[in-house]
Amino acid sequence: MSLKPPAAQDIVIIGASGDLSRRKLLPALYNLAAVGLLPKRGAIIGLARSNLNTESFRELARESVRQFSRSGFDEKRWDEFASRLTYILLDGGGYARLATATRESHRFVYLAVPPSAVPAVVRSLNDAGLKSGTRLVIEKPFGRDVASARELNRTLHESFAESQIFRIDHYLGKETVENILVFRFGNSVFERVWNRDAIDNIQITVAESIGIEGRGAFYEEAGALRDIVQSHVFQVLSLLTMEPPADTAAESIRDEKAKVFRAMRPLDPDRTVRGQYAGGSVDGDAVPGYREEKGVAPDSTTETFFAAQVEIDTWRWAGTPFFLRTGKRLPRRATEVTIVFREAPLCLFEGTSVERLRPNHLTLRIQPDEGITLAFLAKQPGPEVKEQLVRMDFSYGDSFMTRPEESYERLLHDVMHGDHTLFMREDAVERAWMIVQPVLDNPASLCTYPAGSWGPGEAEDLIAPRTWHLR
Ligand code: BG6
Repeated sequence: MSLKPPAAQDIVIIGASGDLSRRKLLPALYNLAAVGLLPKRGAIIGLARSNLNTESFRELARESVRQFSRSGFDEKRWDEFASRLTYILLDGGGYARLATATRESHRFVYLAVPPSAVPAVVRSLNDAGLKSGTRLVIEKPFGRDVASARELNRTLHESFAESQIFRIDHYLGKETVENILVFRFGNSVFERVWNRDAIDNIQITVAESIGIEGRGAFYEEAGALRDIVQSHVFQVLSLLTMEPPADTAAESIRDEKAKVFRAMRPLDPDRTVRGQYAGGSVDGDAVPGYREEKGVAPDSTTETFFAAQVEIDTWRWAGTPFFLRTGKRLPRRATEVTIVFREAPLCLFEGTSVERLRPNHLTLRIQPDEGITLAFLAKQPGPEVKEQLVRMDFSYGDSFMTRPEESYERLLHDVMHGDHTLFMREDAVERAWMIVQPVLDNPASLCTYPAGSWGPGEAEDLIAPRTWHLR
């Protein structure tokens, strides 16, 4: 990330009164302004169908920043920031007014709109003469299967070149996710054992204790596979498994990630588990089942939990199973990667109480409590040879005395600099859909699990005889 403020440009948010804009985009822009990382010149223009004007939009933005800004709220900074905000009502003439309101020859346009609205917005931008000088930022999900992803890419390319398109997956903006590459390629000690010879299996868990947070209509269409696995989990997986790039240019990194998706086998529905939460209790509070949530059909078969075994057919990874798991209403929020190394080839301590040596494992804690832990065996003090698993621990908070920044700040800043490294490329997105398509066509039967548990028992069967490390 460049620490220079980007060149002069306008910032345009379409869907500016919606949830994403209020919770993430406006606070992220405010925080970038606070550290001098917004362009020195350029307007921030919000467009939406809500009946607002510039004054009431500024009020909405102020409330959003007060509520969601990670660095708090400063009245003087706010006034400066607010003076750049303008609102345009998205009625018939909205895009024409946008063309007049843009002051700079460059801009980025953030499409904070539902996927179904994207094609119309893209065409309207083109018709309004806003093609040249525009960087287009699109939120996941990019389509809902192979065919719709291809169709979406085709629509985008009717008006915009791939170099103008920034497909956001906010996981790529997380410090701990980006650190995977530094950890792997900056430390020879780990890279030497990062392969099928030394590793028994790799587990990725994205656990959430929240339910669907009032997003019933969205979630019914998405489900855990589309919402988390095909996007966030696959991105983490590709960074964990890609080969070292020739250099750190965006395309070199994106080439290596795309190769992983080409080498991944399409999912086998028999090696997947789909679950849906029933009522239960999380953190001591009783919570309703998924089918009782607002906006959810009483007989919904949408999965809120998904687990799968994945194989990557490369020299580095052939035969190493990857176990992926995500779910809503699990006991706690934690995104973790566990690399489980092979057991020592023989147990030297026969005749002692040590019969089987537990394998080393390395845990990358993506969030919360960001850090990395290496677990290894040590001898317990005393006359007997007794082993115990102990931990070497790195914590972001302790080492850097700071919490990682909000990923949207990082990603918006990169868009303004035109840096594609942390954004998904067309070929990788389409390939990721090809990997999950067999499960979309032929989903495994749905299991239920009580809210507050670690998902259906079938997920334990999937990984057996191994076990999930995070629990
Ligand atoms: C979003 C999903 O992409 O990621 C949500 O749509 C999910 O369902 C969220 O809750 C999780 O993000 P984070 O950063 O809190 O792990």
